[in-house]
Amino acid sequence: MAELHIRNTRTEDIAALIDLQRRVYPTIAPWSEARVLHQLGIFPQGQFVALYGERIVGCASSLVIRWDDWSDEHTWKEITAGGTFDNHDPDGRTLYGAEVFVDPRLRGKRVGHRLYEARRALCRRANLRRIIACGRLPGYQRYADQMSIETYAKKVVWGDINDPVLGFQLAEGFRYCGVIENYLPEDAESHGHASLIVWLNPHFNEARSTLARANDEETI
Ligand SMILES: CC(C)(COP(=O)(O)OP(=O)(O)OC[C@H]1O[C@@H](n2cnc3c(N)ncnc32)[C@H](O)[C@@H]1OP(=O)(O)O)[C@@H](O)C(=O)NCCC(=O)NCCS
Repeated sequence: MAELHIRNTRTEDIAALIDLQRRVYPTIAPWSEARVLHQLGIFPQGQFVALYGERIVGCASSLVIRWDDWSDEHTWKEITAGGTFDNHDPDGRTLYGAEVFVDPRLRGKRVGHRLYEARRALCRRANLRRIIACGRLPGYQRYADQMSIETYAKKVVWGDINDPVLGFQLAEGFRYCGVIENYLPEDAESHGHASLIVWLNPHFNEARSTLARANDEETI
């Protein structure tokens, strides 16, 4: 029986990764092959795929940033330099989650958990202070005519409403820090908004340097 495993993304994965991304987000333009190749060149350790046997069934992409540069307000486009990750800063202390998705046929089978585990392991290994991400809020489309995005997100945190993405992230130990409006305008389900979330690395040691430099660490 096929087994699930996680490893860093390789060039030969790109076509299947984009094909899956297209199926996950039918109304949002997928990355181009050149874009993913570029991301791999910038920060290979931060790009993960989940494989079920030989099949790509999930993806998690990240870069390192100096959070102080971005903490006030930002859009997905700004903080990922238009998806190029050109603003990846190996001296930063924050791993920023730019994307995560799982094959719709394999949701709820802990693929997302394994991808998040890989991210947390990278954060610990590289001695980064935290992981920050801005998560989609796709469940908001059902409530947008009844409440603001802030109220919606709070109700998810309080357990009154289940959101498929924020619910997953809270279950993964992330803390909700508020809403970023107009983070990804093309995300119609979330009405363009996102939740700001953080996971703190309990082993972070300020006295030690970060190992997130592109060539200091081997990919897995
Ligand atoms: C969000 C997503 C990545 C989750 O992946 P997944 O593989 O279905 O999630 P998992 O099965 O690994 O879930 C991990 C844990 O979260 C919990 N969980 C998942 N969804 C949940 C929800 N809506 N509410 C509460 N808990 C949830 C699971 O029960 C599991 O906890 P457990 O280990 O204690 O059982 C997946 O739904 C997805 O690809 N969504 C579409 C793309 C997307 O919007 N990505 C987010 C970009 S910001």
